[in-house]
Amino acid sequence: MVSRTHLTLSMTSLQDRNNLVATNNSIESSSMRPMDRSDSATRIWLYSGIFWMSVTMLIGLIEAVKLFYPEFLQGIPMLAYGRLRPVHTNIGLFGFMSMGYLGATFYMVPRLTQTPLFSERLGSLTAWVWNLNLVGGCLGILMGYSKGKEYTEIPFPFDMIIGLLVIAIAGNLFSTITMRREQRVYVSLWYILLAIIPFPIYYTLGNASKFSGIEDAIINWFYSHNLFGIWLTTLGLATLYYIVPKQVNKPLYSHIVSFVGFWSLAAFYPWNGGHHVIWGPVPMWVMTASVTASIAMFVPTFATMVNFGGTAWGTWAIMKRDIGYRFSLMAYACYVGASLWGTGLAVMSLNAKLHFTNMTIAHVHLGFLGFGVPGLIAFTYFYIERSLKLKYSRPLAEWHFWLTMLGIVGYVVSMGISGWVEGSAWEAGNSPQGTMVDRYPYHVARAISGLIVLLGQFLFVTNVVKTVNAPAALTATSPDALQS
Ligand code: HEM
Ligand code: HEM
Repeated sequence: MVSRTHLTLSMTSLQDRNNLVATNNSIESSSMRPMDRSDSATRIWLYSGIFWMSVTMLIGLIEAVKLFYPEFLQGIPMLAYGRLRPVHTNIGLFGFMSMGYLGATFYMVPRLTQTPLFSERLGSLTAWVWNLNLVGGCLGILMGYSKGKEYTEIPFPFDMIIGLLVIAIAGNLFSTITMRREQRVYVSLWYILLAIIPFPIYYTLGNASKFSGIEDAIINWFYSHNLFGIWLTTLGLATLYYIVPKQVNKPLYSHIVSFVGFWSLAAFYPWNGGHHVIWGPVPMWVMTASVTASIAMFVPTFATMVNFGGTAWGTWAIMKRDIGYRFSLMAYACYVGASLWGTGLAVMSLNAKLHFTNMTIAHVHLGFLGFGVPGLIAFTYFYIERSLKLKYSRPLAEWHFWLTMLGIVGYVVSMGISGWVEGSAWEAGNSPQGTMVDRYPYHVARAISGLIVLLGQFLFVTNVVKTVNAPAALTATSPDALQS
């Protein structure tokens, strides 16, 4: 299902691209049909991602309540805050984000390359093992066997199994790409390659290396940053680059801007890790280099802003009609917002004020809740309508959209204000204990917002389950939905 959405990185003329659309439409209706039916890997990865998304939100909500009402579920060691927090982050990163976006990737790669997946069976097997392994790893953390270092908490041997699985997944996808029938390499595919080629190395470095002291901290942040930036963000962007032009039925605003956006992100993002240890006891050059790379991230952020903004211009009617497209726009806006926010947090003077506050939590959730969640939802609605040719409940989807939007805004705004209040109190010489009183109302507001997001996802899961299990005659997509 290749379309003009996926502009090549070589300089094709508009005429070539229009020809490409015609060719690709015929591909979609003929030779791609058999592949559509064998999307078993896509389905397991995607549905697992949605499942873990709900689980991570539920755990996040429990943590959020504990932060203003510590007696909540007190006395049960497995539900202690210190154990739930790493389970929330690991399920968020390795369950929801990795699995969901790998689902989208297993869908996109065969279509972008016009080649069946190298091994559908391996794709499905890796998904099941990934699920079981994640359950084992999280139980390990809950039982107190955490490795104790952020984003590498999953204990041995589960951490090593993730490493092996990442290699098998990357091998499966990369083999498909090398055997491709479509010689052009589209923008989404570039982002996918940027995720799957280096990530096994980053993961091994972060989880298997034996550094100590400050070197360990620097390497850990090099790995962790690339876990968010190169593995998850690029898979998310690949998905948006794939679906948005199809949703609006026109090419991306600018091919050259896509090119600039991709290469500047590939050049600067991997070197951002040091911005997590600004003002820590690390060499000044590490801080300066990563702050410079973080400021330079303005280039790909601006490119994304221009490209998706330009593409979305004048699509108001589609926005009203296609709820999936609205989620894509939400994801895009939050990606740009989180990235600009991140660049701001990397400014050393601002970091000194805000590092220990909820401002970082606001930034993180604008990234994962605002960009990660809506991006995956947009893909799921797209997949149901375009690939499964099913019609989901529109009223449920409308409620889902508004609850998700309200909850995300509530979460990010409450944490953002809290961060600023805390930072200002800290600057004025107050103790961290003193700022706890200031934080209280914002923590309550965050929990309410989280509950609203979770309610929205409950409607979403109900809608998806009912749609994919309903008799085909009742759910066949209307011509109107197919046009969107
Ligand atoms: C209902 C939605 C959610 C709620 C209520 C929630 C709540 C929380 C809470 C209370 C914390 C701990 C904050 C602290 O230690 O001060 C946290 C941290 C975190 N959450 Fe969530 N969360 C939600 C959704 C998500 C999702 C979907 C992800 C996706 C990956 C995610 C990723 C993270 C990460 C990475 C951190 C660690 C941030 C840091 O250390 O800077 N959260 N969340
Ligand atoms: C231009 C892009 C970005 C830049 C320059 C950036 C910058 C930063 C900075 C400076 C921090 C450290 C704040 C502190 O601890 O003082 C941070 C934390 C974080 N960022 Fe970003 N960010 C960007 C985009 C994103 C996106 C899109 C996501 C998620 C999809 C994300 C996820 C995170 C996470 C999870 C942390 C918290 C790590 C922790 O302390 O546990 N960032 N970011």
